[in-house]
Amino acid sequence: MPPRRRSAVAGRLRVAAGARVVSALGASFFQWVQGADFYIDLHREAVDLALATTATPAPTWIDVGCGPGLVARLAADRGALATGIDRDPAMIRAARRHPGAARFASGTADALAAGSADIVSAASLLYGASDPRSMIATLWAAVAPGGALLIVETTSLMTVDRARARAQEVGPRRRQALMLWARARGGTAFDPTALDFIPSELRTTSPLLHGLVEAIIAAKPRAAEPNACDPRARRDRRSGDEAGERRGVQGIGTPRVGGISFGGRQRSSEQPSTSSDRSSTPLQGDDGRVP
Ligand SMILES: C[S@@+](CC[C@H](N)C(=O)[O-])C[C@H]1O[C@@H](n2cnc3c(N)ncnc32)[C@H](O)[C@@H]1O
Repeated sequence: MPPRRRSAVAGRLRVAAGARVVSALGASFFQWVQGADFYIDLHREAVDLALATTATPAPTWIDVGCGPGLVARLAADRGALATGIDRDPAMIRAARRHPGAARFASGTADALAAGSADIVSAASLLYGASDPRSMIATLWAAVAPGGALLIVETTSLMTVDRARARAQEVGPRRRQALMLWARARGGTAFDPTALDFIPSELRTTSPLLHGLVEAIIAAKPRAAEPNACDPRARRDRRSGDEAGERRGVQGIGTPRVGGISFGGRQRSSEQPSTSSDRSSTPLQGDDGRVP
């Protein structure tokens, strides 16, 4: 190999190795944060709020951007059939070290099929999204009729001063993570008008951690036809699975079309879910294995 080509290849390998190290450090950091008492408590409360919206005893649940897996684990502890997905394989490796009853797979939000799960959650995902509205539309489309979307995000109250004032009231373990979070956010929050395409009567907002964080829940009507505010799902249904295949996602009722299978299922209001119909659908990670 000519010397210039060899040094270009070596450069690319160094960049790839650097990215892996950064990824692994990020996963360790988030694992540390997810072990903080206040962080566990507020996410547990959010999980309970979302579960209270469904009558299904063991709803399917997908947590998108799961990081090291806290929300999926909490949901599984409460009886949900929970899967966490994250685009960063280092996060999935970290999550799989302590999976509890949850499952984890590498994957991105846009690989989710319409109607993938009864509950779709996203915690601290939208703040960093380049296009929160489009991300929310994707997540909303992934919610099955009768299900709910759960969003957990900091509010404009998440400032260093307010976090300091509350720090002594939260559980002792890793409470310094609250100050780090407040420093990172500094009172900035994702713009909730990104949710405006979902009718306001379907949405509820609940304060968590004294209002520094909030849980937004959007409940999808139980309807045989996709909701009017769900253009993506409407398009997919009209053209069968074609559109889904083009985007590399699993269409409703399709066992698996590329991408990832999450145990999604076809369900109408006349077809109540049972736990047995879920366990028959495999979960596959990006490596094609069933974890
Ligand atoms: C700030 S972390 C939050 C982790 C966890 N949800 C929590 O609340 O602790 C955001 C996570 O979302 C993941 N992520 C970002 N965009 C994503 C996408 N489009 N699809 C899947 N995961 C994504 C990142 O890799 C990262 O692990």
